[in-house]
Amino acid sequence: MALSMMAAWGCTSEQSPVYKDASADIEDRVEDLVDRMTLEEKILQLNQYTLGVNTVENNLGEVVKDIPAEIGSLIYFSDVPTGRNAMQRKAMEESRLGIPILFGHDVIHGYRTTFPIPLAQACSWNLELARKASEVAAQEASDCGIHWTFSPMVDVARDPRWGRVMEGYGEDVYTNAMFSAAAVKGYQGEDMSEKNRIAACLKHYVGYAASEAGRDYVPTEISDQTLWDTYLPPFEAGVKAGAATLMSAFHTISGIPASANHYILTEVLKEKWQHDGFVVSDWGAVEQLVYQGMAEDKKEATLLAFNAGIEMDMADRMYIKYLPELIDEGKVSIKQVDEAVRRILRVKFRLGLFENPYVEEKSEEEMYLLPKSLELTEQQASESMVLLKNEGNVLPLENARTIALVGPGATDAAEHLGNWGARARVEDAVSVFQGMSKEFAGKANLLTAKGCEFDGEDKSGFAEAVRVAKASDVVVVCLGHRGCWSGENQSRSTIEIPAIQEELLATVEATGKPVVVLLTGGRPLDLRRVEPKADAILMLWHSGIRAGYAAAGILSGRYNPSGKLAMTFPYSTGQIPIYYNRRNPARTGDQGLYRDITSEPMYPFGHGLSYSDFEYGKLTLSAEKISANETLYAEVEVKNNSQREGMETVHWYVCDPYSHITRPVKELKFFEKKLIKAGESTVYRFEIDPLRDLGFVNKKGERYLDKGEYQIMVGDQMVSVLVE
Ligand code: NOJ
Repeated sequence: MALSMMAAWGCTSEQSPVYKDASADIEDRVEDLVDRMTLEEKILQLNQYTLGVNTVENNLGEVVKDIPAEIGSLIYFSDVPTGRNAMQRKAMEESRLGIPILFGHDVIHGYRTTFPIPLAQACSWNLELARKASEVAAQEASDCGIHWTFSPMVDVARDPRWGRVMEGYGEDVYTNAMFSAAAVKGYQGEDMSEKNRIAACLKHYVGYAASEAGRDYVPTEISDQTLWDTYLPPFEAGVKAGAATLMSAFHTISGIPASANHYILTEVLKEKWQHDGFVVSDWGAVEQLVYQGMAEDKKEATLLAFNAGIEMDMADRMYIKYLPELIDEGKVSIKQVDEAVRRILRVKFRLGLFENPYVEEKSEEEMYLLPKSLELTEQQASESMVLLKNEGNVLPLENARTIALVGPGATDAAEHLGNWGARARVEDAVSVFQGMSKEFAGKANLLTAKGCEFDGEDKSGFAEAVRVAKASDVVVVCLGHRGCWSGENQSRSTIEIPAIQEELLATVEATGKPVVVLLTGGRPLDLRRVEPKADAILMLWHSGIRAGYAAAGILSGRYNPSGKLAMTFPYSTGQIPIYYNRRNPARTGDQGLYRDITSEPMYPFGHGLSYSDFEYGKLTLSAEKISANETLYAEVEVKNNSQREGMETVHWYVCDPYSHITRPVKELKFFEKKLIKAGESTVYRFEIDPLRDLGFVNKKGERYLDKGEYQIMVGDQMVSVLVE
């Protein structure tokens, strides 16, 4: 189809078209523009091109020349504003209608200022910090000319062998839902056309994390009940928070690939939830419908994906190739194409791109690593780290005069960045050694020895590690997983740490010195051989460029740890999947338990220690009986019995013990984090809306509230209420 043949469809001759009028209603602008577009122009809007890892800066003219001026979107295009502006200029000046290009990029936990990975952010239970982290990411990315991030990932994830658990907010539905909304608000604000806002993309829609055996890209089996109970709610919360876009997932859901799934993409998302933005396919997901055994060839793959409800095709260029033929053959209608284009244009208008297509070309110092961003990432890191064990209150290290710092992670800064650093740079990151050197300057001597690498068999460094351990009052051992061991395509058959590290730990522990283990990782770890050898364990995750300062602050006591696990740490890999909100088994007592190992996890969901000593008072309810439309209040007073102020997150759970569709043993429905001063108490309150908090969604997505008994739980207490 040549542009010239299609030109002038719907065109009028007036001077200032409605779509260019910033004061006109967005829907009128969309309609006006769609009316003016040729079919070829429309189809180009439905495509996102990639150049792979490009070198636009060296080759700008050539690269720009090869990309159509009418393209809808580009991913991974240029690292500097100049590159994006050059391409945008072509779209604005050389295309007939001047439709701006939407520049997309994976900005997952920060752009240049790298924040903790999302799984770690969830462990902070601090939604405001998560919102602000996304806001900083949006500022840095948009200052570089990016309009759209492929974040947040809100896949409820229960198998830590799956490498992508790092990208989401853990195993719980409500937690994912709350962080989903917080991240969307952080990126988009109240109005995406404001300066420094970018469009969010909820992914991977839906159920990708249910991958069998923790492998990536493989099929899943998800019942309708589980789809509604577990996997859809975080997406619904993100849609309600205003998420402009969603990304379809790679996997197959009970036989139907997510990227050809009319039910989830159209019936649920567009019809039931009334989402009016658009869906982009994940990278190559359209053509992959052939490999998944759904489509006979790529043309059929295009038909299935488009008809299911994917408006934009990422990277594989299937739509550009096959949609014209499918339209000619009457298999795809112009009406459908128009509707898809409308959705994409709507997002562009909402972003204010027609008014502000270009980005101001500022210096790196003006865009990145602003002092308030660095402060924020350190604060978030300090709240995301989880103190798993602290026997004999070995932490904080207030009296140590000489501290040995050993292990492969001791002087390493790179592993704090994780595996999704958008523009992350190792030189921006602070290692534990750097953090401790600053933190303990003038207070304690630091002796360091690496001991071994993260993996391998070389023990030649063990002797030096033992030497520094013997010369110290306490040994801090930095172990765990490397950043690149988590993320896409990073499944692992075991979640242990490599044997060489366990051996280093055992060797150092044999010196008899107190041992504090610091762990990096993008997933829960199997610590059954680590736990007995450590007096204290602090899970650092991959906590961004200020992780070293945050960890050192926790070691010294400058920070009081407040993180709690958003994902269960199994006792061993063989327990997977293990998560807190399972349903009851048929038999009780010791029936059905493992015969060779414990059936309990090493550290359950919600576990996390503090240097303060919090005591929970009695859980009380405002009524013993309520009607379905009455609000119930649950309260608990928490006292800080220590001399140290600290933050405590209270988790509120509910259970419907007998139901016509059985319910999990407990479900998180609310959490709240508060600072409690030394010696003081504070009351935590959970306002319960019966239908929202006690009811549940059936397999058709309808919300129910059964009459009868419900249980409200906090800490180890439980109180019943009757709904009449
Ligand atoms: C594939 C990943 O699955 C997705 O999360 C990411 O956003 C896209 N690639 C784009 O890079």
